[in-house]
Order: sequence, then structure tokens, then C-alpha cells
Amino acid sequence: MSDKLVIFDTTLRDGEQSPGASMTRDEKLRIARQLERLKVDVIEAGFAASSNGDFECIKAIAEVIKDSTVCSLARASDRDISRAAEALKPANSGRLHLFLATSPLHMEKKLRMTPDQVFEQSKMSVRFARNLMADIEFSAEDAYRSDPDFLCRVFEAVINEGATTINVPDTVGYAIPELYGNFIKDLRERIPNSDKAIWSVHCHNDLGMAVANSLAGVKIGGARQVECTINGLGERAGNCAMEEIVMAVKTRKDYFDLDLGIDTKHILAASRLVSQTTGFVVQPNKAVVGANAFAHASGIHQDGVLKARDTYEIMRAEDVGWSNNKIVMGKLSGRNAFKLRLQELGVTMDSESEINNAFIKFKDLADRKSEIFDEDILALVSEENLAHSHDRYGLVSLSQHSETGEMPHATVIMTIDGKEVTGQSNGNGPVDASLKAIEANVKSGAEMVLYSVNAISGSTESQGEVTVRLQNSGRVVNGVGADPDIVVASAKAYLSALNKLFSQTERVAAQG
Ligand code: KIV
Ligand code: ZN
Repeated sequence: MSDKLVIFDTTLRDGEQSPGASMTRDEKLRIARQLERLKVDVIEAGFAASSNGDFECIKAIAEVIKDSTVCSLARASDRDISRAAEALKPANSGRLHLFLATSPLHMEKKLRMTPDQVFEQSKMSVRFARNLMADIEFSAEDAYRSDPDFLCRVFEAVINEGATTINVPDTVGYAIPELYGNFIKDLRERIPNSDKAIWSVHCHNDLGMAVANSLAGVKIGGARQVECTINGLGERAGNCAMEEIVMAVKTRKDYFDLDLGIDTKHILAASRLVSQTTGFVVQPNKAVVGANAFAHASGIHQDGVLKARDTYEIMRAEDVGWSNNKIVMGKLSGRNAFKLRLQELGVTMDSESEINNAFIKFKDLADRKSEIFDEDILALVSEENLAHSHDRYGLVSLSQHSETGEMPHATVIMTIDGKEVTGQSNGNGPVDASLKAIEANVKSGAEMVLYSVNAISGSTESQGEVTVRLQNSGRVVNGVGADPDIVVASAKAYLSALNKLFSQTERVAAQG
């Protein structure tokens, strides 16, 4: 058995299935590049047959990513598989990931297929895929709630047809670590050709055990691939968090004794990029990447860490990308220093004009804020990435008045398709008034389902980063905006969400 643990990242596919987490092509490309920098083994870039937008994203990622394998999901049908293979054509190394549900519930109620039909389709689809590509993964959707005898039959057959990775998803997050580990162990022991494939775990976090289940699948079950997402992004309670898996296996090498290809110092930048792109804020006490993950508040702990770090620290903060040197730049910093800092933070920009635009924003921010932190720069370039010249709505200026005992009032000047318009409104507070002033012009009819403000770098001098989630006609989008003025940040986030909601470009559709 190989002692390399394959890290399969599905932030861009399963992660994107979170409500509101859909990403544009450019956003996906940026995240894919960061995943490559992390040295992720496999990047699941999307689900090619689900939409033209997703097809194009996978193709674009396959064109630029050189070091990681690029993968597309496909239902177990010839049409889906052909489409995925077509999108992956430019890849240096490509993988087709086929899936078909095997649990009685899914087969009967969702697929309306008999077990024999599912068996046959699994086999034939792998046979078809094997003629197009050598690297084939087969997932039995809802495997953990499937009959083990039936799973053995299906897995043995697809391995015979040439599947090189066998994935055993806990699709609904129902598993318990020990049981899941033994489930995989039993399958591997019972299937005569199980050694011809790499076994993979894919755990959802509905009971908060996705990471624990995945690790049990590795330790007890002998799986050698973990499917995971940055920050545990994913629908419902999310997927298994990559940063937690990687740091658990690395920190407890004594126990797992497995090798990883991951360059862990890029973890934090990846976490921030995904959070800022999707608007899914990372909780402060989140393991590895939360703001408090390496903070010691109690005097006893601080004293201990100062005397000997490992009294209370089991990982080194800098190993996952935290730096002690928090203040990086200011008003006097030049373009070259800015460009260098972007590189150090793992941000690549496609052109000099993109860097120039980001630098103008940086200077503007430095005029208003004396200390510019890494977090500010990341928010700024993420916002830069979100603001497109073809956006329907743009913010020109905003003024609002609030005073104790008075009804807050806001006036907003904004552009709609390039034309300047003014809107005014009262509101419960300055943010409410400002967003209502925008609505006075837009009349979107959208419902706000989430509003959150986060201080990017801790203090009141920090930029506020606002996430707004809007829902309209069954579509859910997140908008993110950052500014030292949280009312302006709110307006930016709201406009960003509106632009996504009303964008004519086809958004990437997640699989159901
Ligand atoms: O959760 C799941 O079962 C999946 C499969 C498509 C792999 O995401
Ligand atoms: Zn999944």
C-alpha cells in the first residue's frame, strides 16, 4: 500500500454547491492557481455537463494548471463523460470522475433504477470513460448508506473495467468515524481486485465529523485519497476541511505515517481567497485558519508559549502561512513593493494593467488608512477581481446622516449601465438607509437572506468586510465589499450581489 496521501480538492465543484458560493470563471481560475501553489494533487474544477459556463471554466483551468491533475465530475452517462473529456483535453494530467448513486433510497426514489440497472450502467460508463482517459475515478454516491454486498459487486466490476480510484462518499454526513473506517476496510478486504485502485474518502459534515470520518477512512480503512475543500466549504454543513486534514496528517505523522505533497505555507492565503471570493466568513475559532487559531489570550498560556513554544502550540503558525510581520505597507510604498507583496501573498494578476488598477486602489486605501495589512491587500485585490467594467451597477458616492434620536437618511449616487442616477431613503440605521437608497433605483425585488460585517484586521481602524446574500427567483448569490467605512463596504457588497444576480453571463451551475 502506498504511503502517499492524495489530496483531492473539490472547492470548485462540491464547495461551489453551497448556496451563494457560485464563482465566476476568473474567480475559479484564481483559486485553481492557489491550489496549484499549495501543490494539491487533484483539483476538481467543476462538472462539465452541468452548464456551458462550467465547461468553459474547466477548460480554462485545464489550460493553465500544469502541476496538479485537473478533474471534471460527470454522471455515469456517455454524454456527460464525453463533455468532461472534451473540457479536460488541454490538461497536462486529467481525470474523469464518474458518479452514480448506489443506496436503495437514491436508486429507487431519485434514479428510479433497479440495482441491476445501476450495476450495468456503472460498468458500462467506466468502460466508455476508459477509452477516453487513463485516470478514472468512480464514486458510488451515498455509498455509506448502500448495501455492502451490492457495493462490492459494483466496485469489483468498475475496477475490472479500469477505474483507478474508488471513492466511498458519505454523501449525507451520516457516518461515525470508527464505523466508516471499518466500512471501507471491509470493502477493501472483500473485493478481490481492491488493490488495483486507490481508495478514496469523501465526507460531508452534517454531524460535524467530516474530518474525523475521513481520517478514520484513512487510518482504519486504508484509503489513500481524501476529498476535501478549503475552509470545509460545501452545501449544508460543508465538506471535509482540507487545512484540517493536511495539518492533522502532518502534525501527527507519528500516528498516520503518511506523506503529503502539500506546501502548507500557502494554506492561509488559500483560505482567505476562498472566503473573500465566496463571502463565507471563517469563524475566529476555526482550526488552523481562524483568526484565533494561534492566539493565546490567557496569561498562563502566553507565559508558557514565551518560555517554550510547544507548551501550548502543536503547530507553527508560520507553517500554514501566518506571519508575525503583520504591518506590511503604507502610503509611501511604491508599485514594485506592492507587486512583490502580491507575489508573496500568492496573488497572481493576469496583466500589468490589472496590477496598475489594484495599485491605484491600494494608494487610495493608504490615503485613508495608515497601516495596510496583508488582509487589506487580499481584500482589495479580491474586490478588484469582483469589480468588472461590464458590471451593470456601480457605486459613485454615498452620503448618509445618522444622529441619536433622528431617523438615519442616505443619498447614493450610482451608475446603472453607465448612466448616473441618484437615490435617497430613510432607514432603521445608516446601512439600512443606504441599501434602501440603492433599491430605490434598482427595484430588484431580491430578498436579503444574510448580512454580516467582519473587521478584516481586528481593530476599529480596520477595513470592514461585508457579506450580503440575496435571493431572487430561486437564485442565491453572495456579494462581498470591503472599505474602512462599513456603510460604504455594505453598499459595495450589496451592489456586487446585485451584479451577480442580474448578470447575463451564465453562472456556473452546481450538480444536484
Ligand atoms: O457527496 C457526494 O456523494 C458527491 C459525489 C458526487 C462524489 O459529491
Ligand atoms: Zn459531496
